[in-house]
Amino acid sequence: MGRKTWESIPTRFRPLKDRTNIVISRNPSAESCSGGILANSIESALESIPEGGAEKVFVIGGAQIYREALQKAQAKRILLTRVLSDFECDTFFPITLGENGKGEGWVRRTKEELDAWVGESVVEGTQVENGTSYVFEMWERIEDTTV
Ligand SMILES: NC(=O)c1ccc[n+]([C@@H]2O[C@H](COP(=O)([O-])OP(=O)(O)OC[C@H]3O[C@@H](n4cnc5c(N)ncnc54)[C@H](OP(=O)(O)O)[C@@H]3O)[C@@H](O)[C@H]2O)c1
Repeated sequence: MGRKTWESIPTRFRPLKDRTNIVISRNPSAESCSGGILANSIESALESIPEGGAEKVFVIGGAQIYREALQKAQAKRILLTRVLSDFECDTFFPITLGENGKGEGWVRRTKEELDAWVGESVVEGTQVENGTSYVFEMWERIEDTTV
């Protein structure tokens, strides 16, 4: 995650539990991400994965880090929470993933494919939590952008 995303997580919830937290910043001050691993680029973040490796590596934002990570071929899949309610926002996901299931170089997969990838049954259709409507989607990178 980017340094600003780290700072947006309430102190009591960070580092995010049960996973290695790697914070990307150009500022070498380790103080700012106590409990996380500090890396100065996405490449060095990948290199700093602790010995034994990681089963899966997730990029969790924000917009600056998504933008850069999505340009890398290693980014094969997007697990998207599509928020259906309207909000005033100042930070945006850097690529458009259309509600029709198509995006430039990306295609939405089925619920069965999402379940198979995460290894559990994911709730289907529109969910509502505290008045906010959203839906879980999985997208994959495709070679043929005309699909
Ligand atoms: N809805 C979502 O899925 C989601 C997910 C995550 C975050 N968010 C929200 O997004 C906002 C933060 O997003 P953001 O785009 O403003 O910031 P961000 O991507 O979280 O972090 C930006 C910071 O990352 C570091 N950085 C970026 N590119 C770098 C590079 N190439 N090499 C080294 N360091 C690099 C820089 O840190 P330094 O300035 O320290 O050098 C930069 O200021 C927050 O409001 C958060 O709540 C939403």
